[in-house]
Amino acid sequence: MSPSGFSTIRGQSPGFLRGLLSLSSRIKKTPSGYTNTLKGKTILQLFIENSTRTRLSFETATRRLGGANISFTAASSSVQKGETLLDTVKVIQQYGVDGIVIRHKSTGAPEWISTATRLPVINAGDGAHEHPTQALLDSFTLAEKWGSDLSAEKPFAGKSVMILGDTLHSRVARSNIHFLTALGARVLVCGPSTLTIPDRRLFPEFEVLAFPDSALPDVDAVMLLRIQFERQSQGAIPSLPEYRHFWGLTRDRAAVLKRDAVILHPGPIHHGVEIDSEVADSPRSLILNQVENGVYARMAVLAAAVGGVEP
Ligand code: CP
Repeated sequence: MSPSGFSTIRGQSPGFLRGLLSLSSRIKKTPSGYTNTLKGKTILQLFIENSTRTRLSFETATRRLGGANISFTAASSSVQKGETLLDTVKVIQQYGVDGIVIRHKSTGAPEWISTATRLPVINAGDGAHEHPTQALLDSFTLAEKWGSDLSAEKPFAGKSVMILGDTLHSRVARSNIHFLTALGARVLVCGPSTLTIPDRRLFPEFEVLAFPDSALPDVDAVMLLRIQFERQSQGAIPSLPEYRHFWGLTRDRAAVLKRDAVILHPGPIHHGVEIDSEVADSPRSLILNQVENGVYARMAVLAAAVGGVEP
C-alpha cells in the first residue's frame, strides 16, 4: 500500500483490490496471526463527521491488531471553539501517532492531512467523494456470499449489482462503482434523476435506470442507499412516501428478486423509506454481515497501511 495510506478506490489496480479482499479473508479465518501487527503503534481516529459503524469498527480493528487508539470526536473538542483541522492534527501528533483514520465533510481532507503529516492516512469517508473501506467490506461480503474466486482476474464476472437511491451525495456509491466494476460486476445505478450522479466521465462504465422495476428480477444484489438530507438542498424529491412508492425496496419489490439475490445497505437505515423493515430483516439481507465484515476489512487496511503487511 502507498506510504500515504488509502484514500480512494478510484485509481487502484484490480490486483491490489483483490489483494485487500484476500487479506480481509485471511484475517477473518486466522485472526490469531495478526494480534501483534500494530503492537506499539497508535492510530488516531479523527472523526469530524458523525459515525457509528465506521468509527467503532476502526477502533475495534486497531485493538484486535494489538494497537492503541486515540479517539477524537469533534463535538466534544476544541473544534467547537474554532480550532482548525490542521492545528487539531498537529496537536494530537505530539502524543505519538503512527497512522490516522479520518472522516470529514470535505472532499480531499485525507490527502491533505497525509501531505501535512507525512503519516499513512485512511479515508473513513470524505464528503460525497469516497468511502473506500465501505466498498471493500461490501465486496468482501458479496465475495463471501457468492463464494467468489479471488485469484480470478474478474471474480464478479457475470454478477449484476443495482445501486438504488441517492447516488448524487453518496461516497459509498462512488467507491462501490469503482470497486465492483474493477472486479467485473455489471453495475446499474437507479434513483430519482435529481439524486443521480451527474458526471459519468469520471467513472468506469455503469448503466443508469430511472426506475428499478424492470431490472430488479435480474440482478444478483441490490445495494440500497440512504437519502442524505444533510448534504442536499431542498426539493430533490417530492415527499418520502412518493420516494418509497417509486424507489423503495418494499416487500412487493423484494418479492420479484431472484431466489438467491441479496440485499445490502451501508447504514444508517431510514426504515420505511428506502427499505421496508421486514425486507431489511429478511434472510436475503446481508446488512449485519456487512457490519461484522467491516472489522476484518478495516483490519486489512490498517495492517497494510500501518503494519507493513503485504495485501
Ligand atoms: N456506513 C457508514 O459509514 O456508517 P456510519 O456513518 O455509521 O459510520
